[in-house]
Amino acid sequence: MAGKNTLAISLFIFLQMTSLCNSITLSTSSRYIVHQPTGKRVKLACANWVSHLEPMIAEGLEKKPLKYIVNQIAKTGFNCVRFTWATYMFTRPDYYNLTVSQSLDKYGLKSAKAGIARNNPHLLHMKVVQAHKAVVVELGRNKLMVVLDNHVSQPTWCCNGRDGNGFFGDASFDPTEWLHGLALVARMYKSNPAVVGMSLRNELRGDRQNEADWYKYMQDGATTVHKESPDFLVIISGLDFDTNLRFLKTKPLQINLDNKLVYEAHWYSFDNPADKWKSQTNHLCASVTQNARNNYLFLLTGNNSFPLFLSEFGIDQRGVNEADNRYISCLLAAIAENDVDWALWTFHGSYILREEKVNLDEFYGVTDFNWDRPRNHSFLERLQLIRQINRDPKSSRPTYYVMFHPLSGQCVQIGKNIIMANCETATRWDQHQDDGPIKLMSNPQCLGVTGDGGQARLSNDCSSNGSKWKFISSSGLHLGAQDGEGKYLCLEKNASDGTLVTKKCLCVGDNLVDFPSCAENPQVQWFKLVPANV
Ligand SMILES: *[C@@H]1O[C@H](CO)[C@@H](O)[C@H](O)[C@H]1NC(C)=O
Ligand SMILES: *[C@@H]1O[C@H](CO)[C@@H](O)[C@H](O)[C@H]1NC(C)=O
Ligand SMILES: *[C@@H]1O[C@H](CO)[C@@H](O)[C@H](O)[C@H]1NC(C)=O
Ligand SMILES: *[C@@H]1O[C@H](CO)[C@@H](O)[C@H](O)[C@H]1NC(C)=O
Ligand SMILES: *[C@@H]1O[C@H](CO)[C@@H](O)[C@H](O)[C@H]1NC(C)=O
Repeated sequence: MAGKNTLAISLFIFLQMTSLCNSITLSTSSRYIVHQPTGKRVKLACANWVSHLEPMIAEGLEKKPLKYIVNQIAKTGFNCVRFTWATYMFTRPDYYNLTVSQSLDKYGLKSAKAGIARNNPHLLHMKVVQAHKAVVVELGRNKLMVVLDNHVSQPTWCCNGRDGNGFFGDASFDPTEWLHGLALVARMYKSNPAVVGMSLRNELRGDRQNEADWYKYMQDGATTVHKESPDFLVIISGLDFDTNLRFLKTKPLQINLDNKLVYEAHWYSFDNPADKWKSQTNHLCASVTQNARNNYLFLLTGNNSFPLFLSEFGIDQRGVNEADNRYISCLLAAIAENDVDWALWTFHGSYILREEKVNLDEFYGVTDFNWDRPRNHSFLERLQLIRQINRDPKSSRPTYYVMFHPLSGQCVQIGKNIIMANCETATRWDQHQDDGPIKLMSNPQCLGVTGDGGQARLSNDCSSNGSKWKFISSSGLHLGAQDGEGKYLCLEKNASDGTLVTKKCLCVGDNLVDFPSCAENPQVQWFKLVPANV
């Protein structure tokens, strides 16, 4: 009995210790973020959650208990949170001296205060920085990793080019104070097991932005964080609202952070209006994807590659913004193909106070306005493939491909019929050359065309025209093969029974060139052959 007790006690102590030492340290290996020291890939599949607006309080704490929110983040499939902060919260006593309660009083936010008193009474009389820390600790308890993002200097909504927070030297953006803030936050969170990295500054922008200052201050900021907290990943944003890191092609950042340097970028639909997306879906997808390659995805390739954290992208989840709807399929294909680390904009379903509006809905948020449940399950399902690790640093070559359908988030799977299903059980395909067969890995069969509206089938004849799949639009996502009469038919998901069918190609002419203007929606026919090796 005594022996058993000792065993039980030491087991108990062991479990306690492992939970205390649940700290995770990450570093980089070429373009991958990896666990240190095992070298195993860790993929950041994060949601944004903000705490940098005027009240300096994480959104939602007035609506639900902290534990509930954190649990929802994990349950909806994220393994990490990009959690924001504002410089002044840490550098200026008239900000950091405020308790949560005082900060809400400052803006007359009575109902939010009552909400926090009800849902998170333990936070109400904490200083805002303590409350920030309490959120991070709770995220860690749920094994969620945290990236701390310096979003603005002055607590406020971000971003426009003239808000005084855009670039070094702007009214609210003193470089020395910024460095001081980075040092304070790096020090304060250094021993917090949940925090895996810090991003130096969100969306640099505005009239003052220039490359010379970018190189100077990114070096200073990175060195500051690395010195205070050498275990953290240091994440660096580009110019033009974090859409531009092109200049690194010709002039790399001269800095050695012992494999901790990660770049980040943001990708939204904002540059192109809905009617343009609707009439030129294929072409626009090709063009914005090429921009992303030129501006930041190139960092993933070549001899001097780095991880890229796509730290903001997202859509109005009500499905009412057609530019968003078309862009997201295109973007999901690119994220899947490149297997980048990412953070969705956003988790929070509402704001306590944003741009002078109280209790504002966030239609891009995963949670609904009242933080009860996900706003849109079908949207979350579309993230399934990009959550999983498809590529591993151990080998540079893909060993197979999965056929991803970004509109549904599903993958092609061979069963009794060829259907669209969960990507975890996706069928594995061999490499595909343009105008060549799409072959199974497991046997010599390949995908064959049938008639218009017929179900796609497996064929033993992989050399005839009916098995040669050509990219038939500029999107590179649109695969067609010829039927008996030499007419191209395209792969499509039949939305009502989930089978893979071959149908008339949408928005392309017989000459396989995009229609200059198209009334149909070709996304139902978009498939990406996603390289994988795990
Ligand atoms: C901040 O709080 C400290 C301690 O409570 C106090 O001594 C100091 O005067 C306060 N400063 C400001 C600017 O409120
Ligand atoms: C990468 O390095 C190898 C060996 O040094 C060299 O042969 C190759 O050209 C380089 N590739 C690029 C894209 O720079
Ligand atoms: C979820 O998104 C889909 C696709 O955009 C849309 O059709 C649907 O209406 C949305 N559901 C809700 C509840 O907003
Ligand atoms: C989709 O499947 C349904 C049910 O099997 C069938 O009635 C319909 O014709 C199919 N639609 C297309 C576009 O193939
Ligand atoms: C196969 O496709 C090629 C190129 O489009 C065409 O020239 C040829 O006639 C086709 N063969 C048959 C048997 O349809």
